[in-house]
Amino acid sequence: MSWNRRHLLTLEELSAADIALIHATATTFKQILGRNVKKVPALRGKTIVNLFLEPSTRTRLAFEMAAKRLSADVIAFDAASSSTTKGETLRDTAQNIRALGAEMIILRHAAAGSPLYLSRILDIPVINAGDGAHEHPTQGLLDTFTMQEHLGALRGRKVVILGDVLFSRVARSNIHALTKLGAAVTVVGPSTLVPHWFTSLGVTVSHDLRSALADAEVVMLLRIQHERQTAGMFPSLGEYTSVFGLNRARADWLNPRALIMHPGPINRGVEIDSELADGKNSVILEQVANGIAVRMAVLYLCAGGDPQKIATSKD
Ligand code: CP
Repeated sequence: MSWNRRHLLTLEELSAADIALIHATATTFKQILGRNVKKVPALRGKTIVNLFLEPSTRTRLAFEMAAKRLSADVIAFDAASSSTTKGETLRDTAQNIRALGAEMIILRHAAAGSPLYLSRILDIPVINAGDGAHEHPTQGLLDTFTMQEHLGALRGRKVVILGDVLFSRVARSNIHALTKLGAAVTVVGPSTLVPHWFTSLGVTVSHDLRSALADAEVVMLLRIQHERQTAGMFPSLGEYTSVFGLNRARADWLNPRALIMHPGPINRGVEIDSELADGKNSVILEQVANGIAVRMAVLYLCAGGDPQKIATSKD
């Protein structure tokens, strides 16, 4: 297996073999993260800039930790105190960051397609850390990595994605990854948030929560993306929760061994009750932890690293 991509922009453009290579490389890095010395010299001397122009906790910190574990110099861009507040364009911001010596940019932006745009301007790798409602490729990779740790190969596995699918970049990246890996994906929610056209992505669309949950091996909850919704997609949050929120009673419709996942941030008591988010079937914090190894793999491969030759020496 080999990797010949400079950027990671979408999972739509990756093959199943590409995804498997990232997962295999992440497995190696996860083993390294379990050692006393967690740092490897793989990207020593490289300068990586975390250019986050939308809020983030998990993705920003996991990329920062991943870069540090690879011995890169990582710089966090502070959007609130930057000249973007004075009207500087994304193009100018990125070109200035490049001129200052960045050798890789990790971009989160509200505009779908902004990582692709930067990848066409810059001569360095661009990693998509979430672009609008389009894609969140490293989230899809860490989610499928976590599922595989519990279930093995995903071919034929039944995964339900429940909630605001329409505005979710996490849903799109997971749909691309899961369908390439052979899983059977059902997306569930109100018809305003789960329109029929999602069937064109190779998934089943359902508005009947009970029947969808009945044979699920994984249920992935999604937050209502208020920041992206332009009109009322349901009468009220309370009414959404009363029909589609995952609570104790509805969890009884699930297989007792079904995994409960959520990319975060969680709105407790809305899309999922605390009892389930913190319960024995939840792998939510495993997802977060796996984000480091998966992002180490992405940074390493996009920097030109050979997956067969991960140096583990500190020097
Ligand atoms: N899952 C996710 O993208 O979380 P953050 O917005 O906190 O990065």
